[in-house]
Amino acid sequence: MYFDWRRSAFRSLRDIGLFLASARSDARLQALRRQSTSCPIAFDALYRDAPQNDPWASSLPRYQYQRRKYDALVRLLPQRRFRRALDLGCGLGLLTERLARCAQEVIGIDVSSVALRCAAERTQPLKNVQLRQGDITALAPELNGSFDLVVVADTIYYLPPPIQDGLLKQLAARLSGLLSPDGILMVVNHYFPLPNAETRLTRRIHRAFQWSPGLTLMSEHRRAFYLATLLGHSLLGHSAAPEQRPPAQVQSPPPPPPMSPPPNDPPPSSQEPASEMPKSLPPMSVFSGIGGES
Ligand SMILES: C[S@@+](CC[C@H](N)C(=O)[O-])C[C@H]1O[C@@H](n2cnc3c(N)ncnc32)[C@H](O)[C@@H]1O
Repeated sequence: MYFDWRRSAFRSLRDIGLFLASARSDARLQALRRQSTSCPIAFDALYRDAPQNDPWASSLPRYQYQRRKYDALVRLLPQRRFRRALDLGCGLGLLTERLARCAQEVIGIDVSSVALRCAAERTQPLKNVQLRQGDITALAPELNGSFDLVVVADTIYYLPPPIQDGLLKQLAARLSGLLSPDGILMVVNHYFPLPNAETRLTRRIHRAFQWSPGLTLMSEHRRAFYLATLLGHSLLGHSAAPEQRPPAQVQSPPPPPPMSPPPNDPPPSSQEPASEMPKSLPPMSVFSGIGGES
């Protein structure tokens, strides 16, 4: 496939505005958290005060990055019609509305009532979407075992800090419990070509899921600027030992775009709590492209 780097670079430069808006919102969230310990109150204030109720500029037509990322994430899923999908931390419902096209029924859950009101407006014409307020760390037991697709995109690193490995393990176990035996879990988080704090946290999150009992690694996709991991329900009830695991699906990388050289794994940080996860990871599929062209 012909790769037009000039077009790609132009899009990337224009989308810098989105990254700046996101950084401002993340800083504001930290300030809100210092004022209030309640997660819903902080996220409600963030959404309420943001231009067009969109703190991360995800829905603004002038930025292409996020739109292309949602489309790319849906393309990573197996080509099948899902029965029941769950979008955890659904925000404004932008990914939820895409999931509604490939699932009979979609439930979106978010901690913010303001985000959910916007998501309800967006998905109003879609009769197969339901939205609920809830916290991913306190999901109702009746959700167990009922989803053949669970997606949690750009949400886990917004849990209140410090995010310890123990909490990540518990969350991975809880989310694996939501899956039906043929279910798939997709975890997505920021991933930058820099060994910064966000990228290190993303590595810890994805390791916790990958090594969780009850989940089996299907594939990993490193793109500009996110990491997407697909996991299946482990019928054995435990994760296989590293040498028994099938390698993650590997895609051949296309030529990297100018702004996104393939990132190196960041070195472990002395700031981070000691990780209890195994250090060696199965091979990852590496593919850098703005918004994930495939
Ligand atoms: C960056 S937005 C991502 C929204 C959506 N997943 C997307 O990709 O467009 C993060 C979302 O996570 C939600 N969130 C944060 N902590 C949460 C929690 N503990 N439980 C449920 N939702 C949470 C926030 O309200 C916010 O809508």
